[in-house]
Amino acid sequence: MSPTEAEIVSARPRMTAELMARTGLDEDKLTELVHRFYDKVRADPVLGPVFAARIADWGPHLERMVDFWSSVALMTGRYHGAPMPAHVTLPVDWAHFERWLMLFRETAAETCPPEGAAHVIERAERIARSLHMAIEDAKPRTVPSLL
Ligand code: HEM
Repeated sequence: MSPTEAEIVSARPRMTAELMARTGLDEDKLTELVHRFYDKVRADPVLGPVFAARIADWGPHLERMVDFWSSVALMTGRYHGAPMPAHVTLPVDWAHFERWLMLFRETAAETCPPEGAAHVIERAERIARSLHMAIEDAKPRTVPSLL
């Protein structure tokens, strides 16, 4: 067993092993993806301030995000949080998500093999759409009352 495989602790070891073989993803690549991606996000003139207003200590956030991507991409079951409530009150619209996805696609291509990049990008796009829908649903209605 390689050192990287040894680091993966999964609630579903067979499924995780199968996903690692199929995508070429592992703990090191996901950690690199998450760290590089949030370096770009923090430096981004549009997204940076949205994160800076909410996150004071980046260490725990980055650890949580590695757990999240480990769960989403490799089904390790390591993430136990709730992404929806963390986003519904953010001052963002679809243009922010487009920008988030653009940086994510770029970073995935830099840090993952092609199959792995396609795997995480497809999941990021799906989750971005559902977060965006939840945010739009939570916004106050602008249609004037007919009464
Ligand atoms: C416009 C795009 C986005 C913005 C501005 C944004 C912003 C944020 C912020 C500020 C937090 C920290 C919330 C807090 O701790 O108070 C957060 C948490 C998080 N975000 Fe996003 N996000 C975006 C898109 C996404 C997408 C597309 C995903 C998934 C693919 C995602 C996954 C997460 C997760 C898993 C957490 C941790 C939630 C928790 O367990 O507390 N975010 N995000």
